[in-house]
Amino acid sequence: MRVLHSIAEMKEARHKLRGPVGFVPTMGYLHEGHLELARIARAENRNAVVSIFVNPTQFGPKEDYAKYPRDTERDLAMLKKEKVDIVFMPAAEDMYPARYCTWVDLEKVTERLEGAIRPGHFRGVATVVAKLFNIVEPTRAYFGQKDAQQLVVIKKMVADLNMNLEVIAVPTVREPDGLAMSSRNVYLNPEERKSALVLYKALTLAQKLWGKGQRNADIIRKEMTSLIQSEPRAARIDYVSIADAETLEELKNIERPAVVSLAVKIGKPRLIDNIILGS
Ligand code: PAJ
Repeated sequence: MRVLHSIAEMKEARHKLRGPVGFVPTMGYLHEGHLELARIARAENRNAVVSIFVNPTQFGPKEDYAKYPRDTERDLAMLKKEKVDIVFMPAAEDMYPARYCTWVDLEKVTERLEGAIRPGHFRGVATVVAKLFNIVEPTRAYFGQKDAQQLVVIKKMVADLNMNLEVIAVPTVREPDGLAMSSRNVYLNPEERKSALVLYKALTLAQKLWGKGQRNADIIRKEMTSLIQSEPRAARIDYVSIADAETLEELKNIERPAVVSLAVKIGKPRLIDNIILGS
């Protein structure tokens, strides 16, 4: 496994690779969710490239960029075990040198949900992912369903800008009790960790109601909301959404594939999770 830091080195190494390249962009502090993406990238392509880059432009001024958990040594040991070929770890000053001024900004799909609550977040994500795609030139890029809106945004960017690669969605990897794996779960104290399960419980409730034939999205949203409100450590609900899986427009009736997503603050961290209905 090679660990490359400079953009020029990464480009040169890419051009020497023969056959398909599977690419997994990450911000590090890896867990089973990330490793699953790396495994699938490895299995489906002759070469697997993983990037680790905590992208400053996708964090708001009051968000946790400086405090975002980092552990490069552990990350590299995990990726080596998965037989990743190249790990790309650029420096922020190289990705965004002085006078950097080009941004990828998507309309509509970035205006709701996470985009509404974290202004500028998806502009940072789309920009860095476009840059990484240009540097790594992957055949296929792998993204977790865990970040449902991010997946919609990346797929739309690739389609709209005619980018020459395939975007592949990987189902959310969960802890045995159902909590979606996330680098931010380390911020939960033991009590909050228990309470965090309320997200998964609310999604399971939606699945159950839908399974029984409920198609009225409002009724499902209300049931989910009151379940979350019954958890005293759920400090704040940012949204409980049932939206069209492609456009992310809120639905009245669930007649097309829908993504049920929610963002809830449990103690300090803000957790997100989602499931797909009817796909
Ligand atoms: P990060 O949060 O590190 O996530 C990297 C990838 O892992 C994303 O595609 C994310 O959806 C996926 N992932 C995270 N938790 C997962 C889980 N429990 N199951 C399956 N996949 C999971 O997302 C980012 O980084 C950044 O925004 C990035 C795309 C790298 C751009 O900076």
